[in-house]
Amino acid sequence: MSAEAEAGGGAERREREHRAGKLTARERIELLLDENTFEELDKFVRHRCTDFGMAEQRPPGDGFVTGFGRIHGRLTYVFAQDFTVFGGSLSETNAQKICKIMDLAMRAGAPVVGLNDSGGARIQEGVASLAGYADIFLRNTLASGVIPQISAIMGACAGGAVYSPAITDFIFMTRDTSYMFVTGPDVIKTVTHEEVTKQELGGAMTHNEKSGVAHFVSRDDADCLAMIRELLSFLPSNNLEDPPRRPCAQVPDCRNEALNTVVPDDPQKPYDIKDVVHGVVDDGYFFEVHEHFAKNLVVGFARLDGRPVGIVANQPAFLAGVLDINASVKGARFVRFCDAFNIPLITFEDVPGFLPGTQQEFGGIIKHGAKLLFAFAEATVPKITVITRKAYGGAYCVMASKHIRTDANFAWPGAEIAVMGPEGAVNIVYKRELDKTPEEERAALREEKIAEFRARFANPFVAAERGYIDAVIEPAETRGKLITALRALENKRDSNPRKKHGNIPL
Ligand code: HXC
Repeated sequence: MSAEAEAGGGAERREREHRAGKLTARERIELLLDENTFEELDKFVRHRCTDFGMAEQRPPGDGFVTGFGRIHGRLTYVFAQDFTVFGGSLSETNAQKICKIMDLAMRAGAPVVGLNDSGGARIQEGVASLAGYADIFLRNTLASGVIPQISAIMGACAGGAVYSPAITDFIFMTRDTSYMFVTGPDVIKTVTHEEVTKQELGGAMTHNEKSGVAHFVSRDDADCLAMIRELLSFLPSNNLEDPPRRPCAQVPDCRNEALNTVVPDDPQKPYDIKDVVHGVVDDGYFFEVHEHFAKNLVVGFARLDGRPVGIVANQPAFLAGVLDINASVKGARFVRFCDAFNIPLITFEDVPGFLPGTQQEFGGIIKHGAKLLFAFAEATVPKITVITRKAYGGAYCVMASKHIRTDANFAWPGAEIAVMGPEGAVNIVYKRELDKTPEEERAALREEKIAEFRARFANPFVAAERGYIDAVIEPAETRGKLITALRALENKRDSNPRKKHGNIPL
């Protein structure tokens, strides 16, 4: 019976998967886990459906492979849906298999990785299958913020199959072989008369670039599984642990002279904030999350002196690093993840403000921007901010400013901290005066006032005078300063008022 369970939907269907560039459920688990560590559970579970000829087709395992093993030696629970058995569809019994490992993972304080490849609710089982989904959704919700939950979409993911991944912390997709949608192209054509392919509707790049539903895209199955292992290396196994520390070969306070010239002299000129991130963190290694979505804000994991940190950085090289709806939502979710799992937050700030315009206002930039503000404000992990250039307006407050409980706030000497840029400020404050000035003198007056504003605010010292900035530092010494601050914060204790939960503006 064991061999029967391992055969899944049979050699022909397995071969079809291979031809499509996919691995089978068992092959995926082998690659995900450390060698020979997989312990399978419920291999002989069968479905109990008798309708639609199902009584004659009751393969052991029922198409889901579940169990536990090790990743980098650490306990991890895993399930993989086998598309060769009823299209990986969710039955009452295989839902119970998933619930079982989720309950075990919660008790053991270990992450759950779900390898999804499923046509959704098993149609022949009707409401019993829907109930199975709901049982899983409940567990996903209760486990949120307690153990890391990772989803990989490695084939079809239709109907209810998308909502469990959506509640989990990170979604990986394989580039050419995966898609996820609530309703497929055929239904869409009937209801809205739109014609769209499966890939356009729910392919990896659609969800990595457009919708932001997915956080990572991989070349293929093997690449996806390697990336999941990499991600887990930054995370604690549960919310009561600290993230795993690694020995760091690099000298903690080594200087990086290149950082002194990374910001251009002209404040309107872009530069790549990732050069700053790479120039500061251990071995220059940055594991970016949500790389293709809202590129004006960069988020991801790195290490400082061997300790995992979450990086949040405005990206002046894309839309001038402005905060818009997508960037705010992306940042807020990442900040909340780090806070839930004791990962210190390092913020690099160069932001001209929130993006103006009807599209943003009608889209709710007020409530979405507030998410990022809320997330930073409620976070109690060590928080450190470096203002590399602009910190304008509301965005100054939002991006882990001193006022929302940030522990260490640094600024580079060229930092500009103001309500808005000097040009905008002069147009408002001196509007009447400029209107009254004869046209031939107006430009000169504007320039004079702009220079006055720039001289007053285009430096970090006004904020430093008030203690909003703890220290103005040379860019080259940023790594050392961050590590010293992190060490000082090693035993940080902070908490929020007792409550059932906050009401983040959704
Ligand atoms: C039972 C299913 C199935 C399902 C696929 N199969 N989906 N069996 N229940 N939901 C079976 C097929 O009959 C087929 O069996 C095998 O899996 C492979 O399916 P194909 O259609 O041949 O594969 P492919 O062409 O790759 O298409 C994959 C697919 C398509 C796009 C996923 O199968 C499909 O559209 N399935 C239905 C999707 C769906 O609407 N699911 C229900 C959503 S409602 P054989 O024996 O021929 O190999 C839902 C509600 C939950 O999930 C709500 C909770 C909030």
